[in-house]
Amino acid sequence: MKFSPIDTSILDWSGDALAVGLFADRVELTADLAKLDDRLAGTLKETIAEVNFKGQSGECIATRVGGGSPIRKAILVGLGSAEEPQLDEWRIAAAAAAKAARTQKCKTLAIAFPPYKEDAVTTTEAIVEGATLGLHQDRRFKSQPDENDFEVETIELIGLAGQEAAIDRAGHTCAGVILARELVAAPANEVTPLSMAEMAQQLAKEGGFEIEILEREECEQRGMGAFLGVAQASDMPPKFVHLTYKPSGSPRKKVAIVGKGLTFDSGGLNLKTGGSGIEMMKEDMAGSAAAFGAAKAIAPIKPDVEVHFISAVTENMISGRAMHPGDILKASNGKTIEVNNTDAEGRLTLADALVFADALGVDAIVDLATLTGACVVALGDQIAGIWSPDDSVAEALVAAGEKAGEKLWRMPMEQKYFEGMKSIVADMKNTGPRPGGAITAALFLKEFVDKTPWAHIDLAGPVWTEKESGYNNPGATGFAVRTLVNWVLA
Ligand code: BES
Ligand code: MN
Ligand code: ZN
Repeated sequence: MKFSPIDTSILDWSGDALAVGLFADRVELTADLAKLDDRLAGTLKETIAEVNFKGQSGECIATRVGGGSPIRKAILVGLGSAEEPQLDEWRIAAAAAAKAARTQKCKTLAIAFPPYKEDAVTTTEAIVEGATLGLHQDRRFKSQPDENDFEVETIELIGLAGQEAAIDRAGHTCAGVILARELVAAPANEVTPLSMAEMAQQLAKEGGFEIEILEREECEQRGMGAFLGVAQASDMPPKFVHLTYKPSGSPRKKVAIVGKGLTFDSGGLNLKTGGSGIEMMKEDMAGSAAAFGAAKAIAPIKPDVEVHFISAVTENMISGRAMHPGDILKASNGKTIEVNNTDAEGRLTLADALVFADALGVDAIVDLATLTGACVVALGDQIAGIWSPDDSVAEALVAAGEKAGEKLWRMPMEQKYFEGMKSIVADMKNTGPRPGGAITAALFLKEFVDKTPWAHIDLAGPVWTEKESGYNNPGATGFAVRTLVNWVLA
């Protein structure tokens, strides 16, 4: 599918489907739309009345237009409030229009939406993101093609002539989101620590990154006992992956993105039982997928920022070699941890990854992790939690998320709750009491960041969706890739 920006008027466009965007409660047809409707013998007005079209978020109706017309189908899509326009409505509407074009077997689609806040660049990016991500279907593991499969070949963006650069940039971002979706959706017999390392090698080759992969022995030498404790029951060797993007000139800032990379989380000897969602624990590398998805997007965009992408990748398994509940591990900063629950493994792997990132001398670190069920209980599946002792890092990430249409809600770093993590025998336990479980997880991570401004994002909720919603289809969402790209570029 190809996007082209054009300045043809809706009155002169010809092709299979023309999609127009209308605001809620402003669905009357004015100016060119009224003229177009005249030419279509009043079909648009009739359709609006017939289906009681209100222009609400995601509302979409496709109708055939009479013979002799240069267009075959007209698609009406809702853009929500005109008074308080929300950028995400442009993505949602573009996804709806593109999917309607596919259902209606339209090869060529024109999208004619009013600009978001008179900003052609932002409008173009939102439409390209919405249509691309909305149309993306992952059929890698289906043996048969989709019976109703049909490819929309070109999408022309009316009124956005000259926006080629914005189209390219959004295309790169979407490639990163799609990589993250595919990594998360693939099961644990496909995505393994080894395959993640190979994928990172491939990214490095394509994107010109520096790459460092620490094998088990090197992790041992660096004293990464927390990460290796989690890895020790698996038959697959752990891989500590570090990609570096360096701009050609001197960097304006340096950041590190750390992703939790559990390719499967069985819980360990504190095994996840029936009803715990163990069959979904292939998604436990979604933080790592977001980091590498962002890497894929950032390479061709070439910002003047140095970015480190880090993930301590392993499985959390059971075997005769497994960690016993109660084992004491020593992380690479020398702190000791009593593992009172082997299912709180993500924070153990992140501990060593954060110590590593902290030593790089970057200006900020963000970690992303499917860390706790407690965060899902608190915020549901649409919103990620963000914790940071540093207001400016937290605010920058929340703003980057807002621009991306990805919701991050700031949560408290209530130091008092660390009481619950006190251990009699070691420096700390890895889990506290059930209440505030997402907060104590964040407090645990804080013990492994010494000097760098840092934020932690718990995205256990929004990385997966059972239902189609806007530009997300059932399955992995690729959550946080677009936030990370915005954050790096800001
Ligand atoms: N990977 C899970 C968290 C998770 C839950 C991710 C649901 C995605 C969806 C994590 O490793 C885990 O098991 N956390 C435990 C922590 C507990 C033992 C303190 C949890 O949330 O139950
Ligand atoms: Mn776990
Ligand atoms: Zn986990």
